[in-house]
Amino acid sequence: MPNHVGELQLNSNQQLRHLLTLEGLPQETLLQILDTAKQFVSVTNPDREVKKVPLLRGKSVFNLFFENSTRTRTTFEIAAKRLSADVINLDIQTSSTSKGESLLDTVDNLVAMQADIFVVRHKTTGAPIEIAKHLPSHVHVINAGDGTNQHPTQGLLDLFTMRHFKQDFSKLKVAIIGDIIHSRVAKSNIYGLSTLGCKDIRVIGPESLLPSDLDLQGVRVFHNIAKGIEGADVVMTLRIQKERMEQGQVPEGEEYFREWGLTPERMALADKKAIVMHPGPMNRGTEIASEVADGPQSVILKQVTFGIAVRMAVMSIVAGN
Ligand code: NCD
Repeated sequence: MPNHVGELQLNSNQQLRHLLTLEGLPQETLLQILDTAKQFVSVTNPDREVKKVPLLRGKSVFNLFFENSTRTRTTFEIAAKRLSADVINLDIQTSSTSKGESLLDTVDNLVAMQADIFVVRHKTTGAPIEIAKHLPSHVHVINAGDGTNQHPTQGLLDLFTMRHFKQDFSKLKVAIIGDIIHSRVAKSNIYGLSTLGCKDIRVIGPESLLPSDLDLQGVRVFHNIAKGIEGADVVMTLRIQKERMEQGQVPEGEEYFREWGLTPERMALADKKAIVMHPGPMNRGTEIASEVADGPQSVILKQVTFGIAVRMAVMSIVAGN
């Protein structure tokens, strides 16, 4: 990570000011977020009558999603509401960015409306960083996915899920299958896992879908799915992110499924207590079989629920009263 991003996301007291990337984020900050999220799991408990705490009362959270989203945008909205913030979902389709207004001009106008937090998803790598650089110091940015670069809150909710089911990162064997090169989720996971001491990270897929610069300690590359999955404690699979790639790079549909699909037979090669993860959106019959997605080892919907507590944690840490 360029130094200036680290300096941007932590203030001089090493407190989190923006969340832009998990690359280089210190272990203590990662653990602070995961521990805080654990406390918020009880607030999101369905048995609790009042699912709100006043930590962001009077603050305004602006959701700026320049790319489609179901889980991320909605759970940010729920998380902000559970913290008692006001949430404004900017409808990009009908906003003035489609009349040629620049991103930073739009942001200036929203700051003039007294925004406290921007949650930003953009197809351009680094867009949330540019916004963070531009903002006055009392306004915070949370990256909700920038291009093929980073998706830190998804990485954190995945780490939270692994910790919940498996506890000790230093003993964990994590297999990530599929379109790693276009996946900001995989990248955030790899950096986070590595910082938390995971020593066995495997990335599995065809050559065209694996980046060539996976030089972090502990990351091993497999072009054979059976070998990669063997003995894994966590098996995460990813969608082929067609909108982020040149055409014709990989086999599609059934052909992909035959070689790289997560089937019950392949899952049988993992540890028998292994968990199955997927960030969504999921393409059944392409990267995952329905029997696995809906099977007893799947924690895919737990990831979604934990996403609320993790996003509450991040927002309350950057901007809490
Ligand atoms: C991911 C994303 O947007 O990067 N989705 C998500 O936020 N859960 C993964 C994807 O698009 O495949």
